[in-house]
Formats: sequence, structure tokens, C-alpha cells
Amino acid sequence: MIDAGRLFRLDGEVAFITGAGAGLGRMAAEVLASAGALVIASDRDAAAAERVAKTVQAAGGKAETVQLEVTDEAAVMRVVGDAARRRGRIDILINNAGTSVRAPALDMKLADFNRIMAINVTGVFLCAQACGQVMARRRKGAIVNLASIYGLSGSDLFHNLAYTTSKGAVVNMTRGLACEWGPLGIRVNAIAPTFTETDLTRPLIFDNKELVAKLTERTPLRRLGQPQDMAGAILYLASPAASLVTGVTLPVDGGWLAY
Ligand SMILES: NC(=O)c1ccc[n+]([C@@H]2O[C@H](COP(=O)([O-])OP(=O)(O)OC[C@H]3O[C@@H](n4cnc5c(N)ncnc54)[C@H](O)[C@@H]3O)[C@@H](O)[C@H]2O)c1
Repeated sequence: MIDAGRLFRLDGEVAFITGAGAGLGRMAAEVLASAGALVIASDRDAAAAERVAKTVQAAGGKAETVQLEVTDEAAVMRVVGDAARRRGRIDILINNAGTSVRAPALDMKLADFNRIMAINVTGVFLCAQACGQVMARRRKGAIVNLASIYGLSGSDLFHNLAYTTSKGAVVNMTRGLACEWGPLGIRVNAIAPTFTETDLTRPLIFDNKELVAKLTERTPLRRLGQPQDMAGAILYLASPAASLVTGVTLPVDGGWLAY
């Protein structure tokens, strides 16, 4: 008899999370710890990661923290290598650190474009590679990348071409890594969240009531996201429930992309 609860348990597993100090990364830390994983909460903001680890521990979960800037190749290799030596394994990577800039494509500064690509694409690759090397040794791993609805569509509402380009790259990096690493026992998937209320989106979207109303009206389920709306999809893709699922980008968007 199949046990529904066990499909989503992560007891004994080690989950490395980037950008875990706030928003969706923080939520990922909470849900994976609640499923039994030991969470390694990394963030470039060490104090923010520390606060998240304390919350997880207070709720009875297992968490530790490391400071990590995902664009720093040497730091990624060192921090992931240290974690793997300390814990003996990394089973799950939540490749979450990412950011955005608003600028019309006609005027966008190359430095801004390059910064977004460095964090949202190169950082995702570096963390996948470092964790992938550890996972390949045990022929077991699950990577969940944070893409976006704007990795699967263009945007007429905002001028954020660098972001759209970077998230499109994450969607196809997910497919490419799934093909290359499937034979190594590593699954690679992504989620594509809709507009979700976090520190990143509050000033850009959620503080603007008219904009929120417009986006809500355009969404079939008639609401935007909260971080907890992403918990089920992240846990599913990281867990044994998705053991035959790889290469997909799962929209969690209230139907935004169904139009
Ligand atoms: N919030 C949304 O509406 C939304 C929608 C779709 C996709 N996403 C994606 O989800 C991810 C998380 O977004 P969020 O809204 O939680 O953002 P956020 O800004 O609220 O939190 C991001 C966290 O990542 C950390 N971080 C940022 N850059 C980093 C770097 N270079 N190295 C290490 N840590 C870094 C920050 O310190 C912060 O703790 C991003 O990849 C974002 O593109 C968010």
C-alpha cells in the first residue's frame, strides 16, 4: 500500500538553499525542514540566513547557515565542498537566489544586464555544478531552480528584459541539466512563480494597489502569490513524490500562463 505521507518526507536528507534569508528561499527552508531535511541556509546576507535558521530550529527543524554570494565561483566551490564534507552528502539544491532590475531595453545599461545575468544565470549554474558534483558521487540528487512566469513568456507590463532573458535561460538550463545528469541519478526541475509578495516585489508591485488589481484581474484564479503558495511545488519537486519527474518547469501562477 502506498503511503502518501512518506512520498513527501525528506528525513536524513541534506538540502542546500541559496538566497535563503528572505522571501521564497526562506519559505523553502521552512518547508524542507518541516519535511525532515537538514537545511543549509545560505545567503549573501549572513544575518538574514541566521534569522531563518533560528526560526526553523525554534519550530523543531534542523538548520545551519553559511554566507554565500552565488556569483563568486571560488566561494561557491568552497562553501558547497565544506558542507558536503561536514554532512557527507547534499541531496537537494534549491537554486533560489535571484534579482531583477527595471529598465527599458532601448536604454538598458550593459552593467545592469550583466549583473542580472551573473546572479540569475551564472549563479544558478555555479551552484548546480558544485552541488551536482557532490550528488553525482552518490548518484542521487534533486535540484529545483527558481524560474518565473517571465521565463516562459515576455512581459508587456514591465520593462524587465534582463530578468525575462535570465529566467528563460533558467528554464532551458533546467532541461539541459536534466538530460545530462539524469543518467547520474540527478533530477533537475524548476518552478515558475507568478507575482509573489516578497521584499523583491513589494516596492515594484505590491505597494501599488492599482497594479495589484490589474494583475489580479488578469489571473484566472483572481489572486497573486504569497511565499507559502510556492511551498507545495518546491517540496513536490524535491521529494520522492517526483522521482520520475525531471526537466520540467512547473508554473505556480494561478493560471497566468494559461491565457
Ligand atoms: N517574488 C516573486 O514574485 C518571484 C516571482 C518569480 C520568481 N521569483 C524568483 O524567486 C527567487 C527569490 O525571489 P524573492 O522574491 O524571494 O527575492 P527576495 O529579494 O525577497 O529574496 C532574495 C534573497 O536572496 C538573497 N540574494 C540575492 N542575491 C544574492 C546573491 N547574488 N547571492 C546570494 N544571495 C543573494 C537576498 O539577500 C535575499 O535574502 C528569485 O530567483 C526570483 O527571481 C520571484
